Amino acid sequence: MTEPISDMLDFSGKTVLITGAATGIGRAIAEAFAGKGARVALTDRDPNVIAVAADLGSRHLGHVVDVRDEPGIETMVAAVKAAFGQIDILVNNAGIGPLAPAESYPTSEWDRTLDINLKGPFLVARAVAPDMLERKSGRIINLASQAALIGIEGHVAYCASKAGIVGMTNCMALEWGPRGVTVNAVSPTVVETELGLTGWAGEKGERARAAIPTRRFAKPWEIAASVLYLASGAAAMVNGANLVIDGGYTIA
Ligand SMILES: NC(=O)c1ccc[n+]([C@@H]2O[C@H](COP(=O)([O-])OP(=O)(O)OC[C@H]3O[C@@H](n4cnc5c(N)ncnc54)[C@H](O)[C@@H]3O)[C@@H](O)[C@H]2O)c1
Repeated sequence: MTEPISDMLDFSGKTVLITGAATGIGRAIAEAFAGKGARVALTDRDPNVIAVAADLGSRHLGHVVDVRDEPGIETMVAAVKAAFGQIDILVNNAGIGPLAPAESYPTSEWDRTLDINLKGPFLVARAVAPDMLERKSGRIINLASQAALIGIEGHVAYCASKAGIVGMTNCMALEWGPRGVTVNAVSPTVVETELGLTGWAGEKGERARAAIPTRRFAKPWEIAASVLYLASGAAAMVNGANLVIDGGYTIA
C-alpha cells in the first residue's frame, strides 16, 4: 500500500475544475494542483480569472462564469472538456458571506447566499458528474466551513448554506460512491483571505484567534493541502467525509 502514498501528490495527467479561483482559497488550490502536474481550469465570475490562469501557465484555462448561471455552467463544462478531454476532479469553492443579525437578515441576501453557496455547487456537480460516473472515476470536493457545524453570530444564511453543503455532500457520496466518484467536504475555520479577513478584522478577529486552540487563522495553502489529499489516490477510501480544518475551534 505504499504506492498510493508515494504518489499522493502527483497529479500529472489529471484535470481539475475549480470555481471561485480568481483569488483566495480557490487560487491557492489552483496553484497547488498546477504545481503538482495537473491541468487546471480556473473559473470565476471575476474576469480577472483569465489573467490568473494565464499567470499559472499556458496549459491551464481561465473561464468567466457565475455559479448561479445554469446555461453558463453547461457552456463552461463543455469548454473545459473541449480543452482538456475530461474533468477528473471538481472543487466547488466559490462562496460569499454577507453578514447581518438574523432578525433583520434581508431576504435578498439570504437568497443570494443560498444561490451561490449551495445551489451553485449543486449545479456544477450535476453538470460534471455524469461523465465521471460513466468513467467510474472522479473526485468532488466541496468547500463547506466550520459554520456548517456551529452557529456564528451574523452568519445565519452562511451557516445554513454550509450545513446544506455537508448534507448535499453526504447524499452525493452515498449515490455516487458505489459508481467510482467520491464526494467530500472541507470545513475551514477563518482563512486569511479577503473574505476571511474582512469578516474577522480588528478586535473581533483577535477574540476569534484566541478562541482557536492553535491561536491563529488558517492559511489558504493549508486548505489547498487538504483538498489535494482528498483528490489523491491516498484518499480513495474517504467518501462523504467533512474534513474540519479549524485548529480545534469546534471541539474547544
Ligand atoms: N476565508 C474564510 O475564512 C473561509 C472559511 C471557511 C470557508 N470558506 C469558504 O471557502 C471558499 C472560498 O473562500 P475565500 O475566503 O477564498 O473567498 P474570497 O472572497 O477570497 O474568494 C471567493 C471567490 O469566489 C468568487 N465568487 C463569488 N461569487 C461567485 C459566483 N456567484 N460565481 C462564481 N464565482 C464567485 C469570487 O469572485 C472570488 O474570486 C468559500 O466557499 C468560503 O465560504 C472560507
